[in-house]
Amino acid sequence: MSTPSLLHQLEQQLARLDTRTLRRQRRSVQGPCGARVTVGGKHLLAFCSNDYLGLASHPMLTTALAEGARQWGSGSGASHLLSGHYSVHDQLERELANFVDRDAALYFSSGYMANTGIIPALVGRGDAIFADRLNHASLVDGALLSRATLHRYPHNDLDRLEQQLAKSTATHKLIVTDAVFSMDGDIADLTGLFSLAERFDTWLIVDDAHGLGVLGPQGRGSLAEAGLDSWRIVQVGTLGKAAGLSGAFVAGHRTVVQWLMQKARTYIYTTATSPALAAALLKTLMLMREGENLRADLSALVVTLRDALRLQRWQLLPSRTAIQPVVIGDSEETMHVAQQLEAHGIWVPAIRPPTVPEGSARLRISLSAAHSHDEVLHLANVLNHLEEARA
Ligand SMILES: Cc1ncc(COP(=O)(O)O)c(C=O)c1O
Repeated sequence: MSTPSLLHQLEQQLARLDTRTLRRQRRSVQGPCGARVTVGGKHLLAFCSNDYLGLASHPMLTTALAEGARQWGSGSGASHLLSGHYSVHDQLERELANFVDRDAALYFSSGYMANTGIIPALVGRGDAIFADRLNHASLVDGALLSRATLHRYPHNDLDRLEQQLAKSTATHKLIVTDAVFSMDGDIADLTGLFSLAERFDTWLIVDDAHGLGVLGPQGRGSLAEAGLDSWRIVQVGTLGKAAGLSGAFVAGHRTVVQWLMQKARTYIYTTATSPALAAALLKTLMLMREGENLRADLSALVVTLRDALRLQRWQLLPSRTAIQPVVIGDSEETMHVAQQLEAHGIWVPAIRPPTVPEGSARLRISLSAAHSHDEVLHLANVLNHLEEARA
């Protein structure tokens, strides 16, 4: 029997992805997250995770998770607004708000869900969203779901943003930005964005997925580093990156948080995450707060890598964060270099369109406090050598 045409179309589209080297593949890691991992039986030095402080396999967290499960059971059994909200969730939300020094916080199952929930809760038809062109996909999807008009401004171009805001006659306005850009590693001008938000009376959503735990005093994030605090700032933090577990939270003024609890559909219509996870997250907040040594180690590794790389043709993007991208440009060449790195026992992910703009395929090196200086120097030496060999 011939393949039904709907399936056939998918097969053709998959084949097209193959010819453009754009089909994504998953790889199953055999063991815990760390600087060294086993994949497909191979032992690799990994620069891929967002485990910036090396907490994902921290013994205190694995113990906290196991103890949490013993005390709270494994599942929550329902959504938060039915019977799935436990006192340990309350405690976590209080501690999260305390950690980032805001009135209140709401705990979501993931950053993707937080972002796709809060944007439609704050703006809708007739309103306008102003978004950095390099924002994370979850912020773009949240904007699309809201049905507000979406204006995207060129990356970090606050002059263009100002022009767009000045022209807008929308009822409510919202500026939304990554704090640390996930594929570029650079940091948004949060002070400049906040002053535009005040001038044009807009909300400002700051997604600090990659800054929380890493930047600011006690790892309190990019907004703390910039010294910004206002009722109009809605802050998103994710807990699957530096925090080493999973989940996310939104923090801000208590009225805003109350409103989001009433209106964010990705909070309301989903099973609450396990209370055991919430118990372990309490422990990770403590580790992040006390992680000054880990943050210092990470910063030193960033300097080591940047000093040791001697790239001519490939471009190491300016970044002082754990995300250190090397732009190669062509998708096929980027894939090839990633494969060569792997042949040297090093795993760095190749990031291709549509995750990054066409023609800017890159290696996304992410550093972790779990790496040693020798491991980072090894990566730099191999990369220098590979670029030279391809010249
Ligand atoms: C900037 C940014 N926001 C949100 C997310 C989504 O967070 P989560 O992985 O918790 O869904 C990510 C993760 O990749 C991210 O990089």
